[in-house]
Amino acid sequence: MKLCFATRNTNKIKEIKAKLGDAFEIVSLEDIQCQEELPETTGTIEGNSAQKAQFVWEHYNINCFADDSGLEVTALAGAPGVDSAMYAGVHGDSEANIQLLLKNLQGISQREAQFKTVITLVLNGKTHQFEGTIAGSILEEKKGSEGFGYDPVFLPKGYPQTFAEMPLEEKNKISHRSLATEKLIQYLQSTL
Ligand code: IMP
Repeated sequence: MKLCFATRNTNKIKEIKAKLGDAFEIVSLEDIQCQEELPETTGTIEGNSAQKAQFVWEHYNINCFADDSGLEVTALAGAPGVDSAMYAGVHGDSEANIQLLLKNLQGISQREAQFKTVITLVLNGKTHQFEGTIAGSILEEKKGSEGFGYDPVFLPKGYPQTFAEMPLEEKNKISHRSLATEKLIQYLQSTL
């Protein structure tokens, strides 16, 4: 079965290809000649994930899935959430995003947070969603240099190391993204 992963991130494509095996041919946005920016205007992680997958299905008529992720901090009413990538204003400026997060949590002892990924699959026009979350807390300062985004300040619950102190392999065993991806893979394999 041919399936588009609605992303331009070649690492994400590689990773899912390795996990899915030969029963599925995974193609990227580039492979289907989609140069346009996918819409992400719903204001929620679930909504944006669905919006991207549905856009590709409607405009390119191919079965596809899209993911969307973010960090939700309880004391900040779920922020940065869907705005995680550009919390401080510049898309992908992790240092600025972390500094703003720490500033907004200054003096707040309630530090609970979760990472969330929602994958939306549109298969023959039908929509299915798969969610992965990992609970943890936000430290008062950065620790570790691996990973990306908010990893240096995220301490997963029950673990002694931040995501940025863990080897990538270990993070991948418990991360929100891996959990959502596992659910997608299980579903896809059940359709064979
Ligand atoms: P995306 O939807 O996968 O592009 O994720 C959106 C944003 O959420 C990223 O740019 C990061 O700021 C944040 N984020 C998502 N997953 C992670 C993670 O595993 N570690 C750190 N930050 C993350």
